[in-house]
Amino acid sequence: MAEEIIIVEGNNTLAGEVAVSGAKNSALKLIAAALLGQGPSVIRNVPLISDIEIMSEVLRRLGATVERDGHVLTVDTAEVDNSETPYELVSKMRASISVLGPLIGRFGRARVAMPGGCQIGARKIDMHLVGLEALGVEFSIDHGFLEARTPHGLAGAHVVLDFPSVGATENLLMAAVAAEGRTVLENAACEPEIVDLANMLVAMGARVSGAGTSLVEVEGVPLSELRPCDHTTVGDRIEAGTFLVGGALTGGPVTVRGIDPSFLRVALMKLSAMGCEVQTGPDWITVGRERPLAPTDIQTLPHPGFPTDLQAQFMLLAACAEGVSVITENVFENRFMFASELMRMGADITIEDHHALVRGVGMLQGADVSSTDLRAGAALVLAGIAAEGQTRVHEIGHIDRGYEDYAGKLASLGANVRRASAEDASAAR
Ligand code: UD1
Repeated sequence: MAEEIIIVEGNNTLAGEVAVSGAKNSALKLIAAALLGQGPSVIRNVPLISDIEIMSEVLRRLGATVERDGHVLTVDTAEVDNSETPYELVSKMRASISVLGPLIGRFGRARVAMPGGCQIGARKIDMHLVGLEALGVEFSIDHGFLEARTPHGLAGAHVVLDFPSVGATENLLMAAVAAEGRTVLENAACEPEIVDLANMLVAMGARVSGAGTSLVEVEGVPLSELRPCDHTTVGDRIEAGTFLVGGALTGGPVTVRGIDPSFLRVALMKLSAMGCEVQTGPDWITVGRERPLAPTDIQTLPHPGFPTDLQAQFMLLAACAEGVSVITENVFENRFMFASELMRMGADITIEDHHALVRGVGMLQGADVSSTDLRAGAALVLAGIAAEGQTRVHEIGHIDRGYEDYAGKLASLGANVRRASAEDASAAR
């Protein structure tokens, strides 16, 4: 397929309302959790993004039937007989390893290709493995595959995570629901997507309490007591935050609907600190700005701290503010690659280890830039909307991984953005 780019005409303002899709990071794990239901689970509000297609393919390879009707996915895992996930899929999407926990829960074994390196740091899976070992899982590596076995069965345990890893918490949760006895997860991740997963597991018959806090308890039930369910995916707080940054950057006001504002508490506090007006309702948030953008300091942390997945978008705001901001990335190594693309648009950023010193320059200039990952890609399109002149964002496959109809939603807010084949775009120059 010909490479596509997004062409953005700058000097523009975003204003209006946009509906937030279901959370990518939730839906991916909900699809994996359906393995435990051994029948047709219905998952609603699933975003139309390429990562979901990959996860659907992961399930199909395991023997499941996955059917989509708009935003509703029916995942029938009754006939699943295979417990192998190939490298071809894991290498496309690291979150494929979230089938590890439910496969172990269901079959007591799994064979999942080891994820390779990742553009945003080493992203190891040691905490997944150590935690699952405590539940009685034995691992070996076989020709690039991680082989999991439970020769003595799966038994509840007290697990203390070194760091509140989202992926490790989810895998442990999905294995523990079918283990014998009680599992306690200490220092668990508290992200809203963990709560969403726990809610689905409970609807399937699992016994989970404490999700959303750092202490999660699971009372294992026999696999035969877990059944398919009908579950609606929670709204995507990162997508919501991205559009709100668009409002903050260009003045807005931008309203996002379909999101619980408590999911974004720290990010909204930062927007206020930067001079924005923030209003919230039960499932909506509005951000506008009449004053100049003020600088602020940000450090990414596990939830409820400032989300690493909004770091690039806020670096963009800092780059356009009046003054100096310091951004500290504590969750991932190498997550500042975005800075060099933003510097191509005139930003003034110095990186020192995991700190970025961002000297605000006011207005950026349109340029050819590349998405280094999905959040960076989304931020570059926003940068183009506010910049002077035209911006052409390349490698937009990253954006399609996580944002449903990003260009279309931005256009509905008044942006002049369009997708074009890279070849046509350069011929037209
Ligand atoms: C998930 C999200 C991602 C988000 C991240 C942090 C999905 C599909 N992705 O990723 O968008 O940015 O949470 O909010 O849900 N680590 C280890 N060993 C482990 C596990 C993690 O060292 O066993 C490290 C990672 O390298 C990383 C940090 O811990 O530096 C956080 O990782 P984790 O919370 O597990 O993130 P993911 O689940 O991969």
